Amino acid sequence: MKSVTEIIGLQYGDEGKGKVSCYETSNAAMVIRSTGGSNAGHTVVYKGKKYALHLIPSGIVREGAISVLAPGMVIDPSELIEEIKMLRSAGIKVTPKTLMVSDRARIVMPYHRKLDLFLEKKKKKPVGTTGRGIGPAYASQAYRIGLRMFDLLKDDVVEWCKNIISQELATLPEELSRGDAYVREMAEKCKEYAEFLKPFICNTQKIVNDYIREGKKIVIEGAQAYSLDIDHGDYPFVTSSHPNASGTAAAVCIGPTNVSEVIGVIKAYTSRVGEGPFVTELKDSIGDKIRELGHEYGTTTGRPRRCGWLDLVQVKESVESNGVTALAVNHVDTIGKLAILCTCVKYVYGEEIIDYSPIDKENVYPLYYHFLGKWQISEDCHSYEDLPKEAKRYIEFIENFTGVPVRYIGIGPRDEDVIIKPLTDE
Ligand code: IMP
Repeated sequence: MKSVTEIIGLQYGDEGKGKVSCYETSNAAMVIRSTGGSNAGHTVVYKGKKYALHLIPSGIVREGAISVLAPGMVIDPSELIEEIKMLRSAGIKVTPKTLMVSDRARIVMPYHRKLDLFLEKKKKKPVGTTGRGIGPAYASQAYRIGLRMFDLLKDDVVEWCKNIISQELATLPEELSRGDAYVREMAEKCKEYAEFLKPFICNTQKIVNDYIREGKKIVIEGAQAYSLDIDHGDYPFVTSSHPNASGTAAAVCIGPTNVSEVIGVIKAYTSRVGEGPFVTELKDSIGDKIRELGHEYGTTTGRPRRCGWLDLVQVKESVESNGVTALAVNHVDTIGKLAILCTCVKYVYGEEIIDYSPIDKENVYPLYYHFLGKWQISEDCHSYEDLPKEAKRYIEFIENFTGVPVRYIGIGPRDEDVIIKPLTDE
């Protein structure tokens, strides 16, 4: 029985996946983070409290579903421990019964972060990574030399990890591979990680398969976004995983036939952190205004996000490539504060007008469709009917352009600031 819902970012990340995932978890038995690591920053405001999560799925704040960190993740144990402590101090129950960490997930070590920054400095065109060691940790996996959560379960954890760490450090540039004392220091760190995390580490595949067999609802909280996909995004300005719908399911090892819903999440405009092409970027006062109105500063790094108009060419392509079944559009309140809105519907590429993303996206210029903004969403707006007509026109244009229904409309940061749009034939 198909029981899996995926939440996928369709732009450059930071679309508000955490909020949608938390919402979808309200009737789920399990919520899973599948790709990436602490490069993600998912913010949720639940029951009046704000949580900024980087590794644990946002759905954990609801306390009804089991949270899982999947095999496809790269996890910095020190950040995971901090996050568990933060949740506990906020009164959320985090126990080995409510949080399970795959024994197959990779470990991000301090030297991965150092290597991340080192490589950025060496590059002629830096990617603008989050500096969380994501690329180097996935590279170790590809070399088949890095540590996994499983290694923390060993009785002789220091000796066991020393062996693996010394091999791994031998592959690093000389400046970073710093002798026996450093190897021991890192292995001792693993012992500390193990002392805290051991009870959470297990074979997650068995329980995922059990839940699927029993038809229990599972939500997979995607991280990053389709345009940051290492194969399909704006390479090299991408992350090091496959945050598309297929890659997200593969990182948990859930077969495509078990996925019933792919909810694509977008903002009513576009934002990007880090370098790389951005067709609809506004480098002027309107871009600054969107940044201020939408509080567009990175949850992970605090960097100001680059802001621009909604790029529907990008969104439509993402919808089609990810098999999206419904959309969630966030920040509809924010964009309505501007007087005139532009939405990109075609690209100018050399002499041609096109409706797809060519590989050299930096040579593309936007063609816009204009909308009237200045809509006010009142405190007592609780249904689609209550939305101002200009906002509805904007939403319905997105639906018609992409060919998929909009299900969720975000009108504020809180969990309850979501409008559910009825299907048109209901
Ligand atoms: P990395 O994932 O830290 O290697 O960064 C690679 C690129 O992906 C950079 O442009 C980052 O800013 C971007 N990135 C990674 N994770 C996120 C995210 O969760 N939201 C937005 N951008 C991200």
